[in-house]
Amino acid sequence: MPDLQSTFAKRTPPLDALTMQPMVWYGVPAGSILILADKNHLPDGVDFELLDFYITPKYRRQGVGKAAARLAFDLHHGDWQVFELARNTPALKFWRAVISEYTNNNFQDLDDGAQQRFRN
Ligand SMILES: CC(C)(COP(=O)(O)OP(=O)(O)OC[C@H]1O[C@@H](n2cnc3c(N)ncnc32)[C@H](O)[C@@H]1OP(=O)(O)O)[C@@H](O)C(=O)NCCC(=O)NCCS
Repeated sequence: MPDLQSTFAKRTPPLDALTMQPMVWYGVPAGSILILADKNHLPDGVDFELLDFYITPKYRRQGVGKAAARLAFDLHHGDWQVFELARNTPALKFWRAVISEYTNNNFQDLDDGAQQRFRN
């Protein structure tokens, strides 16, 4: 049987390397965001990786995700990396829309559109 615990530990940054923020929308928890900002766990040339981003279904398609992403970017200046699963069509469309607007279309689109990099 594979040693899941040590495999997981190897691939997952320690908790103190992560910045977890709840997204609060007019006083109501509407999602969460997880940012990796520890250079020890990031590739060269990357300051921040967006590890997880979630809006609860009730609050989707109201601009909450876009507002939260923009705020997260504004709070952390440097070289950003964002990944999506290739089969997650809503996420691909969301990040393309948000990042192209935020960067005024000045971003790198890698992995057939499933990874974006930009500097802010
Ligand atoms: C993807 C997700 C974060 C979008 O959050 P959201 O708050 O609904 O997004 P917004 O309302 O701010 O959308 C901004 C723009 O992104 C695009 N977009 C967002 N959701 C979309 C969808 N389901 N299909 C197509 N385009 C979408 C649109 O261009 C949208 O602008 P518009 O509503 O004016 O057309 C949300 O659906 C979610 O949490 N999904 C599950 C978790 C997930 O996949 N997270 C991303 C992991 S990388």
